[in-house]
Amino acid sequence: MTTGQLLYEGKAKKLYTTEEPDVLLVEYKNSATAFNGEKKEEIEGKGVLNNRITSLIFEKLQANGIASHFVKQLSDTQQLVKKVDIIPIEVVVRNIAAGSLAKRLGLEEGTPLKRPIVEFYYKDDELGDPLITTEHIDVLDLATPEEVTAIYDGALAVNEVMQPIFADVNVTLIDFKLEFGRDNDGNVLLADEISPDTCRLWDATTKQKLDKDVFRRDLGNLTEVYTIILSRLGGK
Ligand code: C5P
Repeated sequence: MTTGQLLYEGKAKKLYTTEEPDVLLVEYKNSATAFNGEKKEEIEGKGVLNNRITSLIFEKLQANGIASHFVKQLSDTQQLVKKVDIIPIEVVVRNIAAGSLAKRLGLEEGTPLKRPIVEFYYKDDELGDPLITTEHIDVLDLATPEEVTAIYDGALAVNEVMQPIFADVNVTLIDFKLEFGRDNDGNVLLADEISPDTCRLWDATTKQKLDKDVFRRDLGNLTEVYTIILSRLGGK
């Protein structure tokens, strides 16, 4: 499979066409960004780690019946995915209060929530990805009510599969962000990446942060903690 035309370059990934019309190639970059791109650094090895971790997680999700755009890992930094149109909604699932939820509701970070909650954010860098409701989704025509139901149920299903996978390796899944897309037949598919860039992952015993908060809050070495996640998930 050869790299074709560059379709899109985002903060952490590049997207290329391939010789197959419905398959795209994703290349993970070494860029780390936070606060809507205000904090930025190149971190050697980050692309490899996120590509491997995302590939492992999508494989585990598929093994548990959760369909996604993921086709296969191609190389250290590259994976093949099914072409989808990304729905511009960032879907956040939270098990434990942290980050923006802790701040918004005045909860102490680490406070367990009585049930998982799902939040929607409008994926728009210029607006700073505002929190939105299903009514905003409807008025902005971001997705149909049926698609919103598929996204909501899908996000909770991903949580049901991911929580025990991490718990088994002594990691608490605090929260995470998902994106969904529409394939050529209009089916809603889980897409994008699932990595320590997009999840909060704490060591269950020590509560050490093993995710991008290490970069956001200058708490230590990003590649060290991402390597811990990769090896606990059984990767190399
Ligand atoms: O910042 P906040 O607490 O809302 O983030 C919730 C979860 O969503 C975190 O795991 C964070 O890493 C992820 N997230 C993301 N991309 C964003 C915003 C949040 O991956 N643009």
